[in-house]
Amino acid sequence: MTATAAPMIRPATVHDVPSIALIINSHAELGRMLFKSYAQLYEDLRDFAVCEVDQQVVGCTALSVIWADLAEVRSLAVEKAFHGRGIGKMLVRWAIDEARRLQIRRLMSLTYEQAFFEKCGFVVVPKESLPLKVWSDCVRCPKQDKCDEIAMVLTLHDLPIIEAPNATPTPRGVSIPVLEEIED
Ligand SMILES: CC(C)(COP(=O)(O)OP(=O)(O)OC[C@H]1O[C@@H](n2cnc3c(N)ncnc32)[C@H](O)[C@@H]1OP(=O)(O)O)[C@@H](O)C(=O)NCCC(=O)NCCS
Repeated sequence: MTATAAPMIRPATVHDVPSIALIINSHAELGRMLFKSYAQLYEDLRDFAVCEVDQQVVGCTALSVIWADLAEVRSLAVEKAFHGRGIGKMLVRWAIDEARRLQIRRLMSLTYEQAFFEKCGFVVVPKESLPLKVWSDCVRCPKQDKCDEIAMVLTLHDLPIIEAPNATPTPRGVSIPVLEEIED
């Protein structure tokens, strides 16, 4: 029998979209995350990385830029048979490296997996401290205002604090509040 190859993280390509959809939507069926359509995945493809083992995609995550000082770890999922092998942590590490490359000092996640994200260095913050833009997905969530996800943040202290611009009001008069300074 051949040994299982080491997990490898790489940016996603169009070829990965069916596997990404399968992994995310298998967890979505259990109410653990939001369903993603092929259309959404193709649109956000440049945000995604996948984990490959023996040329099989077994996990994925996305880093979505929210603001000058905030990016969100989204769509993190590992195929059940591969849980507990450090793949989730490797995917979060990819997201952290990507945030550092983009010079974004804070990462956030809305999650049910508090213990896992604590292992990755995230801390729980009040949901109200996150900017409204973060809640754009809520319109697609069946739970809507009964949201029971936990908001968590990781600060990359080695990056400089930048003066994040305030949002100017949109033509509809809606402005986007920026993340308040949180004790970290
Ligand atoms: C959360 C998830 C991505 C973790 O992936 P994973 O590959 O099993 O996690 P890892 O093996 O990298 O675990 C890293 C650490 O977290 C711990 N951990 C993982 N899941 C945990 C859990 N549910 N509760 C407590 N600790 C957990 C591991 O024991 C490990 O600890 P260690 O570093 O001390 O050894 C995976 O369980 C998953 O796909 N869940 C369903 C989808 C989901 O909820 N995604 C999050 C959406 S924000």
